[in-house]
Amino acid sequence: MSAPVPSLESEASGQGASAAKTETGIETCGGLAGLAAINRPDRDLVIWARALPLCLTAWLEGLEASCLPDLRVLVRPGDFRAAVEPQLDGCGMPPGDMRDLLIGDADALVAAFSQVTGSDLVDVRLERVSHDACWKFHRDSVEARLVTTYRGPGTEWVRPGQAEQALQEQKQFKGPLEQLRLHEVAVFKGSRAGTGRGIVHRSPPVAGTGQTRLLLCLNRPSHVSPEPWPQA
Ligand SMILES: [Fe+2]
Repeated sequence: MSAPVPSLESEASGQGASAAKTETGIETCGGLAGLAAINRPDRDLVIWARALPLCLTAWLEGLEASCLPDLRVLVRPGDFRAAVEPQLDGCGMPPGDMRDLLIGDADALVAAFSQVTGSDLVDVRLERVSHDACWKFHRDSVEARLVTTYRGPGTEWVRPGQAEQALQEQKQFKGPLEQLRLHEVAVFKGSRAGTGRGIVHRSPPVAGTGQTRLLLCLNRPSHVSPEPWPQA
C-alpha cells in the first residue's frame, strides 16, 4: 500500500507556479513492489519505510569497521550472493545467520532494482563509509538510483521546494532537511531522468564522529561499472 506524502513546496524555488505542480513527487510505500512507482513520470522519490530485525542492527554495530565490506560488482539478479561471498570472507565479515540476512536483503533489492529499471545487470556498491564523501548537496548524474543504509546515519535529502536553495547555500543551508532512517530504502531520480528535477541529497557528515556507515547503492550499468561478474 502506498500513501502520497503531501507536498510542502508550493511556494518555493523561484521556478514559478507551473513547477510547483511537479513538486509533489514523493511517495512512501510498504514493500518491495511499491518501489516501481518511481517509473511514474510524476514521482521523483519513493521511500520504502521499513526496519530490519534489531539483531542485524546489533550485529553490524558490533563489528569492527575493518570487517565491513567495501565492494563493487556488476551482477545479474541471483548472482549477488556468489559474487560477494568471497569478498565478505576477504574483509573478515563473520559468516552465519546475520551475514546471510544481510546478503539476502541486498539480493532482494538487487532483483527489485533490476525489475524496476528493466536492466539485466545491476551495478552494486556495498560501501564502508567513514569520511564525508559526497557531503555537498547534489543531484546524481543518473536516471535512477537505489540506496539503503545498513549501519550508521542515512542519506540526507531535501524536498524539491528547497532543492535550489540547498544547492546554492551548501553548508550554510539551514533546512528543512530530511533524512532516511536506518534500513529505509529509497529509489530516487537523478539529473538524467529527463524530468529536469532529480532529488537533491548528500551523505550525512560522519568524519570525526567515529562512526562508520555501511551503504548499499544500486545503479544501472555505466561506463564506470566494473566488468560483469564473473570476470574472465
Ligand atoms: Fe549522490
